Amino acid sequence: MNRVTIRVPATTANLGPGFDAFGCALSLYTDVTFEETGSGLEITGCDEAFTGPDNLAYTAYCAVLNTMSEDVRGVKIHIDAHIPTCRGLGSSAALLVAGAMGANVLRGRKLSTQGLLNITNAMEGHPDNLAPAFYGGLTASMVDGGLPVTVSFPLHPDWEFLALVPDFDLPTSLARSVLPPQVSRADAIYNISHGALVLKALELGDEKLLRTAMQDRLHQHYRKKLIPDYEKIEALVRTTGAGFCLSGAGPTLLCITQDSQLEQKLARKLDSITQNHWQMLPLHVEFQGAHVIAEG
Ligand code: HSE
Repeated sequence: MNRVTIRVPATTANLGPGFDAFGCALSLYTDVTFEETGSGLEITGCDEAFTGPDNLAYTAYCAVLNTMSEDVRGVKIHIDAHIPTCRGLGSSAALLVAGAMGANVLRGRKLSTQGLLNITNAMEGHPDNLAPAFYGGLTASMVDGGLPVTVSFPLHPDWEFLALVPDFDLPTSLARSVLPPQVSRADAIYNISHGALVLKALELGDEKLLRTAMQDRLHQHYRKKLIPDYEKIEALVRTTGAGFCLSGAGPTLLCITQDSQLEQKLARKLDSITQNHWQMLPLHVEFQGAHVIAEG
């Protein structure tokens, strides 16, 4: 076998208070095909700026081969990305996961998923997007002794996710640069307690508890000034009773609800209170993590 296509789901990280720890896979995908060739690197399907050796899928591909002490031969990579880039929906993690899994499958599946998570976590620096991209569903992760440890959590089947995706991007590096290096004990306690209850609310399907628990003091307050109309949109969503948070580092905003009419309710008002265009993307939880969709 010298060719494989990997499908990786989008992911929303943090879920409010679970900064760098919680993540959930969503029903939007990036497919990446790897074909081993005699020599050279060819990357298609993405912006010219990302076709060099620093492409994330390729760097993860090489990192896995290096860990397995396998030689890096030539490879053609084709990216079919439906996860919008720099929007807080795990597009970078998806490329890392695809590259790691692609290399592992092409060279005999010598590493476990945990092994691939270890390698990609060292590259990304936090496992909150990577873990649900590998395993699917809702996950919480910690890094202990430098290695990620992930647990999957149950989700009530009635939740619907509505992503509000703006027409501007926000690089994660910028969204992280505005965060303070230290936090108060009160804010740490606030996030630990709210985080625990977010997971329970998602399990129980308790919308009122979710609305209250899905609040944060570690990152959203600092980041909202980078996102025009954040506060107006949050106020609008809160009138509907849905849970609300920043998706990952943003700028996508995420509503979690059991109200099948939420999109229509927001559509009537969103454009009138914002200066940018916000695309509404109805999504559901993806319980299948990254997997092979074609090989040969
Ligand atoms: N937990 C990360 C953050 C997700 O909020 O910065 C984006 O990589």
